[in-house]
Amino acid sequence: MRLELSEPLFNPLLKKWVGRGELDYEVYLKTPVLLSLQAGEGERVTHDELLFQVVHQAQELWLKLASREAVEVVAELDAGKLWAASARLERIQRVLRSMVSEMAVLETMTPDTYQVIRRSLGNGSGQESPGYNMLRHAAGGLEAALERLLALRGVALKAVYTAGGPDDLKRLCEQLMDVDEAFQNWLYAHFQLVRRTIGVDRSVKALDGLPSQVLAGRMTLPLFRQLWDVRVELTSSWKREGGIAPGALRDGCMHAGPGAYAAAARAAGCPAHAGASFPPAER
Ligand code: HEM
Repeated sequence: MRLELSEPLFNPLLKKWVGRGELDYEVYLKTPVLLSLQAGEGERVTHDELLFQVVHQAQELWLKLASREAVEVVAELDAGKLWAASARLERIQRVLRSMVSEMAVLETMTPDTYQVIRRSLGNGSGQESPGYNMLRHAAGGLEAALERLLALRGVALKAVYTAGGPDDLKRLCEQLMDVDEAFQNWLYAHFQLVRRTIGVDRSVKALDGLPSQVLAGRMTLPLFRQLWDVRVELTSSWKREGGIAPGALRDGCMHAGPGAYAAAARAAGCPAHAGASFPPAER
């Protein structure tokens, strides 16, 4: 016997009918509209089409939320409300992280099932996603707001990452990095979904004709490029001076290390371990 779910249900606790769209919950959340936005029973090309639509629609909603929150962060940064901006960036990061697990639900759809759904998608492209476009646009606003804040405080980005630099700006920059990394992790999760569903290869064309391979390059495109570049800059100006030279003894205890270290210690002839057999730490 097949259970029927499209008819209103009587809730014995409430003693009311749920599903008619008349209750406060249903009115406020517009559930009659929301739940009618997926292909109905008998309209689906295959059972998993509901899963496909729900995941896509949910992801659009999360992207909408993340984008609106990013707009608020811009206003907060411009108003110098760094704590509020920080709390909101944490929220955006959590949204994006939850989207990664949500994407994994769609991985339970097998490739053969997707081949059926694919026939109803026209030439749709992921680039047409409003949420994706909104978030990238909002991230541009965030990047500009960070630049304004740095200019106002008279600090170059590299100086933020220099000893004695402003802690509050450093925390902010790291939170923007968290958001960016979470966004790229989402794109990576999408890449793996695509890979196991239609394959990633030069011969695999998306519905808009693009080879699915392009995703490999796009998924690491950052939202806040300068924050990634500054790390490259810091490493480029890194110097060995002041550190420990390669092969040098550390606290005269080089012998404690594995083979390569023990050999270096033997060559250096550490007096503290003059009588030790080599390599002593390799058991
Ligand atoms: C089985 C499911 C999916 C398949 C086979 C698939 C396939 C693809 C392919 C081949 C592309 C690259 C070509 C193009 O831009 O159209 C793409 C891009 C994209 N897809 Fe999907 N996708 C799936 C699920 C999703 C979901 C759940 C979302 C969530 C909103 C999504 C969002 C996007 C976005 C935003 C892009 C553009 C990414 C970029 O250009 O870096 N896709 N998808």
